[in-house]
Amino acid sequence: MTRKIDIFDTTLRDGEQSPGASMNTDEKLVLTKELLRLNVDVIEAGFPVSSPGDFESVRRIAELVDDRATVCALTRAVRGDIEVAAEALAGCARPRIHTGLGVSESHMRAKLRMTPEVVIERAVEATRIARNLCDDVEFYCEDAGRSDYGFLARVCEAVIAAGATVLNIPDTTGYSMPDEFGRRIRYLMEHVDGIEDVIVSVHCHNDLGMATALTLEGVRNGARQVECTINGLGERAGNTAMEEVVMAMRMHGEELDAHTDIVTTEFVRASRMVSSITGINVQPNKAIVGANAFAHSSGIHQDGIIKSRDTYEIIDPAEVGAGASQIILTARSGHAALRKRLEALRITVDEERFDALYQAFLDVADKKKEVYDEDLEALVNEQDRNATAIYSIVAVQISCGSPLKATATITLVDREGVEYTDVAYGTGPIDAVYKAVNKIVQVENDLTEFVVQAVTRGIDALGEVTIRITAPDGEVFTGRGADNDIVVSSAKAYVNALNRLLSKTAAVA
Ligand code: KIV
Ligand code: ZN
Repeated sequence: MTRKIDIFDTTLRDGEQSPGASMNTDEKLVLTKELLRLNVDVIEAGFPVSSPGDFESVRRIAELVDDRATVCALTRAVRGDIEVAAEALAGCARPRIHTGLGVSESHMRAKLRMTPEVVIERAVEATRIARNLCDDVEFYCEDAGRSDYGFLARVCEAVIAAGATVLNIPDTTGYSMPDEFGRRIRYLMEHVDGIEDVIVSVHCHNDLGMATALTLEGVRNGARQVECTINGLGERAGNTAMEEVVMAMRMHGEELDAHTDIVTTEFVRASRMVSSITGINVQPNKAIVGANAFAHSSGIHQDGIIKSRDTYEIIDPAEVGAGASQIILTARSGHAALRKRLEALRITVDEERFDALYQAFLDVADKKKEVYDEDLEALVNEQDRNATAIYSIVAVQISCGSPLKATATITLVDREGVEYTDVAYGTGPIDAVYKAVNKIVQVENDLTEFVVQAVTRGIDALGEVTIRITAPDGEVFTGRGADNDIVVSSAKAYVNALNRLLSKTAAVA
C-alpha cells in the first residue's frame, strides 16, 4: 500500500488572495460543501485577524465542517493573531492553527528586520502560544524555497521541539527547480531531529509554471501533505492546482509511493464552481478541468481516439467528472425532467427556488433548442447571485444601431423593493447600460476588464459576461451575468460587481 497524502485545500485563503477573487461568507460556505464532497483532509478557511468578515467566515466554516475535515486558520507569528484564530475555530471538532514567519535571507532582512536568532525565538514562541490553544499546530517557514538549508533545518527542529505537529515548507515565490526542491525536503527528512513524528507539508507557487512539479518532488522526497487550490487559484501566478497534483499521484502512485482519498469525479464541478464564484475563468487548455482537456481536433488524433481511447487520452474524462450528459432538455421538458437533470448534476435547489428556476429554464429553452448542463449551471449561479443582491435588474431596454445613438433604459430594484429607473446615452449599447446603472447606483469605479464567452456551443448559446471593476482604494471586484442577450448579460455582470463592492463597503463600515 502506498502512503496516504493529505490534501490541504487553501482556495478559501491563498486562493482568495488572487486579485478580484474575494468571496463573501455565503460563497465560502457553498465552496466548503464542495470541498467536503471532494473529501479533502484539511480546509484552510481564512486569516481571521485580517478582517471581521474573514473571522466570521472561519467561524461559520468551522461550525459547518464539524468533524468531517480539519479546519485551519492562518496567523502571523504574533500572539494577537493566534488568539483570534483560536477563537474563530472554537466551534470546530478538528481545529488547526497555521502560524509562521519568513526564513529566507530576504524575508528576515528586508521584511521582518530580524536577525536569524530572533526569527528562531519568535518561531518557538508562536508555536508554544498556538499549542497552548490548539492540539494541532502547523508551522510555515515562509520563503523556505530560497532559504539556507542549515538554517531552515534549525528552525524546523526548534518548532518541532516547541510542539508543532505539521511542518510547512513553502516555495512562496515559486523560485525553485523541482529536483532542487526535492533535495531540500530530503535534506530536512535526514537532518531534522523529530521530523519523523510530524507531517511534512509542501506549499508551492506557480511563478515559473512548476508548482505541480515542485509539489510532486516534495512528495517523492518525504512530504505527506500537499497544499493546493482548485484551478490553481492563488497569489500572483497561483498555487499548485489540486486537480493536477491529485491526478498525477493517481497516474504515478507507485513511483511516488503516494495516494490520496480525493473523490476525483468532483473536479470539473468544483472547478466550475470556483470560476463561477470568483469570476476567474479557467483557460481552455488547462490540465484536467479546461474545456479542451479532453477535446481532440486533429484528424489523426480523432482517428486514434476512435480506434482506442488510450491512444491520445491518459485519463478517462468520467474519472474527473467530465462525462457527457445523456438527457437533453428542451422547452417541452417538464418539472420532473429538470429535477432529474439537476439531481444528476448534484445541484440542490429548494422548493421555493425551483419554480423560479423552472421559469428561467423555460425562458432559455424558448430561445434555444436544447438546454445543456452548462446552461443549467449558469442559470443556478445567476439565481445564487440574485439571492444575495443589494440591487437586482427588473428591466433593460436598449435602442441602438447605425446611425442611432445607443440609449439604455434601466430599472433596478433594491432589497426593500424600491424601484429606480434611469436613462443614458452611450458610445454603444453596453456603454449606455453602464452609464444608466451608474446614474442609479452612484458608486465610483473603473471598469478594468470585460470578457464575453458563450456558455455552450451554437449561435443561440447563453452569453456569459465577466467583468472586473476597481474601487477607488484599488480593490478589484468581479461580476458575472448570463443571458441569451449579451447586453443583458453585461448589465447583470455590472450590477453583480457593484453588489459585491457595496457589500464589502457595508461589511467594513
Ligand atoms: O506562500 C506561502 O508561503 C504562504 C504561507 C502563508 C503558508 O502562503
Ligand atoms: Zn502561499
